[in-house]
Amino acid sequence: MKNLVLIGFMGSGKSVVGETLAKKLNLSFIETDKLIENKSGISINEIFEKEGEPFFRTLEKETVKDASDHQNTVISVGGGAILDEDNVKSLKRNGFFIYLKAPFTVLYDRIKESTNRPLLAVHNPEDKMQALLEARQMTYESVADLVIDVSSETPEEITEKIVKELKY
Ligand code: S3P
Repeated sequence: MKNLVLIGFMGSGKSVVGETLAKKLNLSFIETDKLIENKSGISINEIFEKEGEPFFRTLEKETVKDASDHQNTVISVGGGAILDEDNVKSLKRNGFFIYLKAPFTVLYDRIKESTNRPLLAVHNPEDKMQALLEARQMTYESVADLVIDVSSETPEEITEKIVKELKY
């Protein structure tokens, strides 16, 4: 079967839903951000701080390419990964894209206390987040094979919803 690629904004639950979904379907689970941290030996925060975002995006592209070679895997990618066309191309070769969608207020509520979102480590994170979400929303929608509303249910309920849609 195709890999299941979870996409969506920060705070949409890609990690926790990914893990639950992989268990449920007996698939492997990988997260590109975790792979980047393992490979570089430092956190995503530190990569942004020490090397800057362009360097992070280069690592992300290499990692996405490697991840795309997997089979029977749930792949959770960072919220910005699918803005890069090469990343979309690699992942689409053998991947079905599931967009975990939630409105701004829900996402903001979930990540406002988070300290590991370097893009939001700015003077006014709320404005920055709103601008990023607005700029990305269309892309998430347009590459998605399946859109799942994740505003209110638990990860288990969301997983059930996905499995139902996949007609597993
Ligand atoms: C990013 C999202 C993060 C991480 C990095 C950049 C983004 O992943 O890849 O901080 O551009 O939206 P999550 O979506 O898992 O938070």
